[in-house]
Amino acid sequence: MAPSILANPGTDEENLRVLTAGWIDTMTFWVNGSRIHLDRPDPECTLLEYLRSIGLTGTKLGCAEGGCGACTVVVSSFNHARNKVEYSLSSV
Ligand code: FES
Repeated sequence: MAPSILANPGTDEENLRVLTAGWIDTMTFWVNGSRIHLDRPDPECTLLEYLRSIGLTGTKLGCAEGGCGACTVVVSSFNHARNKVEYSLSSV
């Protein structure tokens, strides 16, 4: 049996409450310069599904395996130490 990370293992519900006590259930990000704040976002909704649900249909679902690039978006953040925007590409 694998060792438990809980000091006093209880029921599944109690364990989940202990493990997630410090977690947040909101998400804030920017899309095309607009701030988006989501309370309790659906953890099974992909970024592709979200973007298309708000009318941004330029991102498509092609192979659904990360091979064709149809769902590629640019993810960027501002690096304050280097004073520049840093980019990466991601299949969503
Ligand atoms: S749908 Fe093909 S890479 Fe995402």
